[in-house]
Parts: sequence; structure tokens; C-alpha cells
Amino acid sequence: MFNKRTRIKELLENDTHNYEVTVMGWVRTFRNNQFIALNDGSTNNNLQVLAELGKFEESLLKRITTGASLKVKGEIIPSLGKGQKIELKANSIEVLGDSDAEKYPLQPKKHSLEFLREIAHLRFRTNTFAAVFRVRHSLAFAVHRFFNEKGFVYLHTPIITASDAEGAGEMFHVTNFDLINPPKNEDGSINFKNDFFGKATNLTVSGQLEGELAAMAFSDIYTFGPTFRAENSNTARHLAEFWMIEPEMAFYDLEDNANLAEEFIKYIIKYVLGNNKEDLDFLSQRLSKEEKQKPQNERIEMSLIEKLQFVTNNNFERLTYTEAIEILKESNYNKKKKFQYLIEEWGVDLQSEHERYLVEKHFKKPVILTDYPKQIKAFYMRQNDDGKTVAAMDILAPGIGEIVGGSQREERLDKLVERMKEMHISTEELDWYLDTRRFGTVPHSGFGLGFERLVQFVTGMTNIRDVIPFPRTPKSAEF
Ligand code: 4AD
Ligand code: MG
Repeated sequence: MFNKRTRIKELLENDTHNYEVTVMGWVRTFRNNQFIALNDGSTNNNLQVLAELGKFEESLLKRITTGASLKVKGEIIPSLGKGQKIELKANSIEVLGDSDAEKYPLQPKKHSLEFLREIAHLRFRTNTFAAVFRVRHSLAFAVHRFFNEKGFVYLHTPIITASDAEGAGEMFHVTNFDLINPPKNEDGSINFKNDFFGKATNLTVSGQLEGELAAMAFSDIYTFGPTFRAENSNTARHLAEFWMIEPEMAFYDLEDNANLAEEFIKYIIKYVLGNNKEDLDFLSQRLSKEEKQKPQNERIEMSLIEKLQFVTNNNFERLTYTEAIEILKESNYNKKKKFQYLIEEWGVDLQSEHERYLVEKHFKKPVILTDYPKQIKAFYMRQNDDGKTVAAMDILAPGIGEIVGGSQREERLDKLVERMKEMHISTEELDWYLDTRRFGTVPHSGFGLGFERLVQFVTGMTNIRDVIPFPRTPKSAEF
């Protein structure tokens, strides 16, 4: 058996010494031909390995370079040096894999996030990305734990579908046709009858519609999977492939929905505050340093940890779209024309500058906006009695803008069909969806949380490309 090793995190947490261990990891630095900083990804803190002078062959020492992988056996002893309580006095060192120091792209110095994005296959080996992806893991774990504790069923919805759940037409096609010469109909359009699935298919933009089907049997379900959007948005908050968590609950109205979303967000943030303290402290310090580069008036007042604690300890602000429009209209930003898109009338869609004004300048906390105009929202949202708005909710977070989008669903068959017709959505293709309204329909609600936007919020990373291992964005699908 090869894998008889102790994780470095475990060693560093344990204060005792004078015992034998085997560790394996990658060299971060090698100082004075004696001190190896070894990292195995379990923590950002390296284990200092002492290679006593004269004990090892010169030919071996030459191979201990940044990036090389080692297996070290030795004894844990109290450390004489500053910065660590213990170190490993090596008895044997085996180089598992060499790393040519001249060619290894990660030098022991600070690299820019942009540069590291180009070498995303290696960036896990930096402190920043190691912390980000360990936190991402914990957040994912907390998501499952939350819903499991609440009795929700985890539903795997399809990735290939024939429907456009959001009706926004931002889909990637899935086909195995020869793209040079696909079969055509008489009118020149592509004939999908002979394609793999016998019809036009695409990558899913949301698991919601299938989620609703299951909620009509299990009461409470959630999905957590990849979703795809072919929107050409080259921003720090958009990906073409992102992960979304979509709970769907029978017997929930919009208020129940908002309550669950707020409880959910607080729960997962509390979970990482309790379980990822070391990484969050590191990210908090990283962000503070980054903030210091900015002019005083643009800096965020709270540290990352303070911000997260603030979110878990305070109620989210709740107001309607109509109330938000009034606030925005009356704002200094609108009056002094500081918004790129000025708010002039009710009915306009909110831009991220407006969302950020509300959460960062006006309320200074997360906001749940409800009851949006029906023209700017999807067909499945429940129509309010005023005839103008739908029972939608968006949750806006400081520094991010929209983090959650959801609604109470239109459970009344006639109203739903009417709205679909108005919006030119085929009732025949979605006949299976309409069946839920034909057979035992109930008031129900759900929402979608963009997982990467949550990871951004929790880690303080400003670009969404830095919180997913291998980002897919317009003109980029490397690795
Ligand atoms: O608001 P959206 O489009 O809502 C839905 O898809 C609904 N079907 C959800 C539901 O009710 N079950 O997307 C939900 C969330 C957004 O609030 C945002 O956080 C994230 O998904 N999101 C994106 N994240 C990264 N890149 C993109 N291109 C995103 N588009 C949406
Ligand atoms: Mg949305």
C-alpha cells in the first residue's frame, strides 16, 4: 500500500512531537539547502521539512525544486524556527516527480489573477486558489446538508433538453449533425427529425421545469447541477457554464419562498464561517490588501469576515420592485445622472448598477425584491391580482447584485396557458409541464441560486472566472 501518509493539516493542528510520520506533497520553496516548505493542499500552511546538512546526497538535493513532488519519512520535532511549532526532521526523501525550476510557471512570488487564469491547470497550487476551492467545496457540502436536514429530495434533472425553461433563447444547441451539410426542410430550415434525438435539443438553462414535476410528488426537492447560457455577456458575474441550486416546494407562497432562501443563505455562510476559518481569514486579508490599493471612497468598509457575519446576523431587507423604483428615481445617483441607465419610468428592468446601489449605498445589506412587472419576467411566474406584476423575487447581495432569482409559480392552468400564448411559448411542446396543473395542481414556489455568485460573495473574489476551476466564457473554453 502506497498511501500511508498523514495530511499536513492534521500534523499542524496536533501539538505533540517525537513520533514518526510519512508525508507527501509538493515543494513550495527550498531554502539554504536545508528547509523544504511542503504543501499537500489540505491547508495553506506548509510543513517545514528539515533536510539536515550532510545527511542527503547532493544529487537528491538538486532535485528538490519548486513544484517537485516528494515523499518524506521522518520524525516530528519541535521547531526552532519562527512561524511554526513543529517541523519534520527527514530520515528519507524520495522525489516522486521532478519539476524543472526553469520551466515551472509558478515562481515563489505573487502572480496576478489574470496570469493565473491562463495557467488554471496549475493555479490550484497557489494559496489564493487553494483557499477559494476548499471554500467552494464546503459551500457545496453545506448546500446538501441544509436540504437533507429539511427533508428535501435531491433531484438530478437532465442536462440535455428540448425546452427553454427561461424562454430567453440563450441556448447552446446539441446535435451530432454534420455541421457543413445538415439535412434541410423544403423551406431551408434544418430538419432535426434525423438528428440524434429526433428533434432540436439544447443544453439546459435551468432544471426548474423538471424540478416542478417532482415537487408535485415529493413536495420538496432541489437540484444542484451545471446550467448553460449562451448569453454574450463578458462581465465579472457571467459564465456560459455555471452551477445552480434550484429548490422547488409544493404548498409554498412567495413569502414562504423568500423565508427559505434567506434561511438557506444564512445557513451555508454560517457553515463555512464555522468550518473554513483559516481559509476565510486568508481570503479576508487578501481582500483587505486589495482594497488598500483603491481610493478611500471606493473601499468597502467591512472586512470579508465582518461582511459574512453581518449577513448571518441581520434580516434581509424586503421590498417590492415598485418601492425600489421610487427609491432609485429619487436617488442622488439618478438626479446627478451617475447611473448609466437613468430610471425614468416604472416597468424597466433593473441593471446591475441599480441593484448594487440598493444593496451597497441605500440599504447596505442583502435585499429581497418582489413583485416585478410581468413583461420582464418568465412565463411561469404567478400573476398578481393587479394585472401588471408577477410574484417574482430576486435576492441582491452587496458586491454581486443578483444572486437568487425565483418566484411563486402560476398554478392555475387557464392563466398559465393564456400567458404562454401571449409570450409565444408552445403549449404543445410543454404539454407534460401543463399536466401538473391538470392533475392535482397546488400553490408552489422555488428559486435558483447561482453557485459561483455565492462563492464570489463568500470568498470576496471580484471575478467569477476565479471561483470555478475551468471557466467557460465567450471565446474561451481552455482546459
Ligand atoms: O434568474 P435566473 O435566470 O432564474 C432561473 O433560472 C430560474 N429557473 C430559477 C428558479 O426559479 N428555479 O437564474 C438564477 C440565478 C441568478 O440569480 C444568478 O445568480 C445565476 O442563476 N445566474 C448566473 N450565474 C453565472 N453566470 C450566468 N450567466 C448566470 N445567469 C444566471
Ligand atoms: Mg434572474
